[in-house]
Amino acid sequence: MKILTLTGAGISAESGIPTFRDANGLWEGHRLEDVATPEAFQRDPDLVHHFYNERRRQLQHPSIEPNPAHFALAEFEHQHQDEFLLVTQNIDNLHRRAGSQRIVAMHGELLKARCIDSGAIFDWTDDLNRSTVHPGNPDSVGRLRPHVVWFGEMPLGLDEIHEAAAEADLFIAIGTSAVVYPAAAIVEWTQASCRRIEINLDATPRSPMFDQSIRGKASVEVPKFLASLR
Ligand code: OAD
Repeated sequence: MKILTLTGAGISAESGIPTFRDANGLWEGHRLEDVATPEAFQRDPDLVHHFYNERRRQLQHPSIEPNPAHFALAEFEHQHQDEFLLVTQNIDNLHRRAGSQRIVAMHGELLKARCIDSGAIFDWTDDLNRSTVHPGNPDSVGRLRPHVVWFGEMPLGLDEIHEAAAEADLFIAIGTSAVVYPAAAIVEWTQASCRRIEINLDATPRSPMFDQSIRGKASVEVPKFLASLR
């Protein structure tokens, strides 16, 4: 049985990372779409760096840890190996920290930086700003950006996601409001024969596409559902 899982901010909410829509998509009075775009970065790089620097610091706070939903997915992957692919919209590293191995981080990763000129990607735990020096080239200053996907940019790993969706016998969407595309369309890329399960606190615009919608907290419902498959 081939299994594809898609996660969103809801799976990390109980780990202490606020979701996007629960905060009304606002950050310090800015609309998210005004901060998380290539245009915003060109117009006001300090603001955009500040936004992601805060998030990067928050993610590394000792109180932030994977929760039972992250651990249950990692354990499930361990038991199903090649049959399982985890696609996440989250830019946190909680799936990795819980032990998941095969992860497509379709919206990028907060603890990575990317060179605007070469595309080279580096592990990154510090702040980024306009005077950050490229680790491999001291002459290149202020040319690193967060390795995240902004509105208007192409998500990462779409070919692999398409293929996994087309082959999936079971698709599980967890903690996503299903309003940001193309992630919200992945359920439509699965075959009619694929069993589709949604686990979320609330109904979403995509709920009618699923065979079963499980309403509740990810930390409770994900371990329970995965155990029911054994
Ligand atoms: P959202 O913040 O839009 O949605 C989170 C969903 O999780 C909501 O439907 C909540 O009801 C649900 N939820 C909250 N707490 C939960 C819990 N404990 N257990 C289960 N469900 C819970 O987050 P995403 O759908 O991930 O994109 O947002 C998608 C994308 O929009 C993000 O990746 C980001 C954002 O703009 C980019 O930055 C490109």
